[in-house]
Amino acid sequence: MRNQDICQSYSGYLLRDVPAEDSELTHVGPTTPMGELLRRSWHPVCLTQQLGDLPLAVRLLGEDLVAYRDRSGQIGLLHRHCSHRGTSLEFGIVSGRGLRCCYHGWLFDHDGAILETPGEPSGSNLKASFNHGAYPAVEHRGLVFAYLGPPATKPPLPQLDTLETLRDQLVPFSLWHPCNWLQVLENFMDPIHTIFLHSDYAEIQLSEAYAARPELHWEEVDGGMICVSTRRLDADYVWLRTNHLLLPNFVQVGTLYEDGKEKNFSRAGITRWVVPHDDTHCSIIGWRHFNEDVPSLLLGDPEECGVDQMDAVGQSGGRSSEEAQRNPGDWDVMVSQRPIAIHALEHAGTTDQGVMMLRRILRMAARGENQAPLPLHEKTGAINTQTQDTVMRVRTPEGTDERQHLRELCKRVTNIIASCGDLEGESRLDRIRKGITSLVVE
Ligand code: FES
Ligand SMILES: [Fe+2]
Repeated sequence: MRNQDICQSYSGYLLRDVPAEDSELTHVGPTTPMGELLRRSWHPVCLTQQLGDLPLAVRLLGEDLVAYRDRSGQIGLLHRHCSHRGTSLEFGIVSGRGLRCCYHGWLFDHDGAILETPGEPSGSNLKASFNHGAYPAVEHRGLVFAYLGPPATKPPLPQLDTLETLRDQLVPFSLWHPCNWLQVLENFMDPIHTIFLHSDYAEIQLSEAYAARPELHWEEVDGGMICVSTRRLDADYVWLRTNHLLLPNFVQVGTLYEDGKEKNFSRAGITRWVVPHDDTHCSIIGWRHFNEDVPSLLLGDPEECGVDQMDAVGQSGGRSSEEAQRNPGDWDVMVSQRPIAIHALEHAGTTDQGVMMLRRILRMAARGENQAPLPLHEKTGAINTQTQDTVMRVRTPEGTDERQHLRELCKRVTNIIASCGDLEGESRLDRIRKGITSLVVE
């Protein structure tokens, strides 16, 4: 398309073409570059509470699977189609040990071993001659995690510093989206939308603090990136918020309902993965954190978190289209970007730098060009996340440009957090909080 055509009035006819999606970043099926990258780490599949007396049909990374918990408590994740003659095991019978196909009674164990082929004559060696497709699956804090990669490279289940805090109440939740996984992940590196979508457009969906225009900073860190939003709340207080993303699909943010009260390195409010079902469907699956430091308890509600629901406006489908049009939420804006957002049709601005950075580091990771191994793929021991909210009492010095001052504060806080990366547990928290406190004396 020539430039004079693009700038022409009434150019709809000239701009009808919809180019192909960026398949390298968005496609997740077996043998695709992104599909293989995603298959190198554990992902939450469903909530433990979804595994009852019936199997659960799940689709993950373009594969049809079935999850179940047998009556001994063992969780299994099997290829959905029975390896006898293909009936779906979602109609299977959850047994004392394993899952039994309803058609001819074959019984499968969680590792794919075929325990029984009851229609075969006694002495038949059929069941020992092959295995059914199965993936490792474990329960962790109310979620079922699975690993779909090569057995030889199975990493340990990731541990996160912010999950080890016993005072946190962790409430599992999932949110299904009929769109590509990447546009959902990108939303977390696009914090400017909080002042439009969540504050100005229809109603204050989160809290008033989000309405202040932030200075934005994105930075590559080991295995991912951070996004820092720094806002002046009033003449005395500044709020700094850090979202932490770990490749390929993990993101953690601080409080959902910031109250603007003084706080120093308050930790996670939401820990989640964006899990692709296939190229045009995905789910956000993770935990909401509730504790007395994260002021979500004022407006958030653990009772509203669960399967396809979270305690904020517009996070799931199912509202009437009029309700969604009058008060659109994250779900509506992401799903309506098309089943797979078309990057070639976008016109990126300065506030899209985080999205562009994410695409670049994801592409490098899918091509195997990243320098260091990804923490979610290999790390043993707890991963220190940088997720935080700090509201500090600090005035802009006389004669200093306010935006410049916010950028400087952001740099100093980010450096303090980064400099404590090798410390662990309480000693890390103490060191970071002391460093941040020292900034207040200005
Ligand atoms: S198709 Fe499953 S046992 Fe025959
Ligand atoms: Fe949002």
